[in-house]
Amino acid sequence: MSAHERDRAQSDRLVAGAFRDEDMEIEGSLRPRHLEEYIGQTRVKENIRVFIEAAKQRGEALDHVLLYGPPGLGKTTLAHIIANELDVSIRITSGPAIEHQGALVAILTNLEPRDVLFIDEIHRLSRTVEEVLYPAMEDGAVDIVIGKGPGARTVRLSLPPFTLIGATTRIGMLTSPLRDRFGVIERLDFYDESALTEILRRAATVLGIPAEEEGLREIARRSRGTPRVANRLLRRVRDFAQVRHEGIVTSEVAREALAALEVDALGLDRVDRLLLLTIIEKFGGGPVGIDTLAASIQEEPDTIEDVYEPYLLQIGYLQRTPRGRVATAGAYRHLGRTPPEQAGSDQPSLFE
Ligand SMILES: Nc1ncnc2c1ncn2[C@@H]1O[C@H](COP(=O)(O)OP(=O)(O)OP(=O)(O)O)[C@@H](O)[C@H]1O
Ligand SMILES: [Mg+2]
Repeated sequence: MSAHERDRAQSDRLVAGAFRDEDMEIEGSLRPRHLEEYIGQTRVKENIRVFIEAAKQRGEALDHVLLYGPPGLGKTTLAHIIANELDVSIRITSGPAIEHQGALVAILTNLEPRDVLFIDEIHRLSRTVEEVLYPAMEDGAVDIVIGKGPGARTVRLSLPPFTLIGATTRIGMLTSPLRDRFGVIERLDFYDESALTEILRRAATVLGIPAEEEGLREIARRSRGTPRVANRLLRRVRDFAQVRHEGIVTSEVAREALAALEVDALGLDRVDRLLLLTIIEKFGGGPVGIDTLAASIQEEPDTIEDVYEPYLLQIGYLQRTPRGRVATAGAYRHLGRTPPEQAGSDQPSLFE
């Protein structure tokens, strides 16, 4: 398991009950296969639609695509859809899985013309492996060294035209030479309530879960803008509906189940609240450095940055400052605390 998978497993456990293989399987079965079924992300979707159409008309490989954004927003799903819409095969790997240059060269030289190569967690490629990608992406070639010692020579092998799709939760960790070689760079954003409700409606249909619109809406509101979380909460709510009620996901059942799962009205879970409370109570509201914060709540700094922070930043409960993380007045109020008095008027206040 890579660090990111571990983070994901952990966050899933915390956000929505036990993490199981079955969840992974269901996630696969819920993945839309066509751009049409990919809900929300309208701007990204429309751009991609144009680029796919243009590449198909010219009979060329689609330019290299970089997808970034917080976990569970649909990067992997979109990569599969792109390959499907292009009517080509997709070869899947991930940054940490490619251990040496030779492994990547082998993958590249085995691609069929116009195939998609999907590299998940591309920010975790090693530097030496990454260097293979530069000429591959730019010139459609790889340089391989034949022989050893003084007699060694470099041979340039040309590759079939291909599309690299990279996905990352951390665009900031990508080197600029790599980032600059992507012709298409798209950021996925958190989903709004209506898009999430639509995603849930589709999931309920696919999984055969009887659900009322208001029940789905209640889950959507509390899914941190994230389809993966929404789908997972739906399955847990279904468990409550099945065991304690008549099997139908209603808003009452959703509220009861979410309360039992310690997911609050805004979709924050125990760790989100612990994180904010720790800043407020142990560090006087902040600023506090990420490592100090991570140590006090016994989480990995990476997990905090990848999984918890993005949504807290998005809803304005957390701010990043050069000196560390700060809890905002909104966070204080949400947790039933009184925000501190505003600082002197010459200082910009974080508590507006
Ligand atoms: N736009 C969408 N429409 C419908 N379902 C979606 C959409 N985006 C994501 N999903 C659902 O959410 C699940 C998680 O999406 P996906 O695995 O693509 O996220 P990701 O961005 O690759 O996450 P990670 O960064 O953790 O790899 C998918 O199984 C899919 O069912
Ligand atoms: Mg993914």
